[in-house]
Amino acid sequence: MTHHVQLPGVRLAVHTRGSGLPLLLLHAFPLDHSMWAGQDDLADEFRLIVPDQRGFGRSDGPPPASIAQLADDAVALLDALHVAQPAVIGGLSMGGYVAQHVAARHPDRVRALILADTRLEADTPEARATRGELAAAVGRLGPEVVASAMIPNLLARSQHARSNPARPTIEAALERTIRATPAATITAALAALGARPDMVDAMRRVGVPVLLVVGAEDTITPPACMERAEQVFERPRRLVIPHCGHLAPLEDAAAFNAAVRAFLREVAGAADTPAAGR
Ligand code: MLT
Repeated sequence: MTHHVQLPGVRLAVHTRGSGLPLLLLHAFPLDHSMWAGQDDLADEFRLIVPDQRGFGRSDGPPPASIAQLADDAVALLDALHVAQPAVIGGLSMGGYVAQHVAARHPDRVRALILADTRLEADTPEARATRGELAAAVGRLGPEVVASAMIPNLLARSQHARSNPARPTIEAALERTIRATPAATITAALAALGARPDMVDAMRRVGVPVLLVVGAEDTITPPACMERAEQVFERPRRLVIPHCGHLAPLEDAAAFNAAVRAFLREVAGAADTPAAGR
């Protein structure tokens, strides 16, 4: 079910389904909740909560001011949905940055973290400059510049990946979503992404189970980002998904979901065992 939830100062569209351990999934830039459509199967066992973050999809503005603000929105959403128990917070790329900020700012609300195709480090000056150039181009020409700049880099490029029969449908859906994103959201989000802090030290203090996932062919946040993150968290679970690019949950939902299901069962099982520590 997709419905709107009024939070202080913003109204978010959110897809909710299932019951059990709450699993909040936060989308990448500049997408919306539909990138997680392949994860709907997980609602047979878990309580899925999949919002359009502020300014994206069918959520209302104002556009994002910072990644921290998106993290606070996520927690306000859990409050509004009466999610009292700590939730599993999953995010891909920008959603992964937001998930890290939820863990740092609201540690008592987090049961476990799933970080997919993301990084812990801040932007380099070069990356920040590139975002500035893209934002200026969006101001002049509109969101379609982002669609043409990003789509070739979002999906795996190998012949095996290109021959996936679902590929044209996935590309068309990405194109539609990006073109429908308001230019004001895109430029504000690019500024927020560029200004986000380095989270390495904050993540060293995270005391919950962590699952790290990356597509083997991701060129935006390549497997090396995950390898560095593996050195930061204590005994993280990890998965590299072959033949996937930056959007592993969309490109190979079955592999992604199997890893998430196993991880969440482990997390839920540990919570049910009185002697189990984290
Ligand atoms: C995303 O997929 O969310 C973005 O590529 C993240 C980024 O640009 O850092």
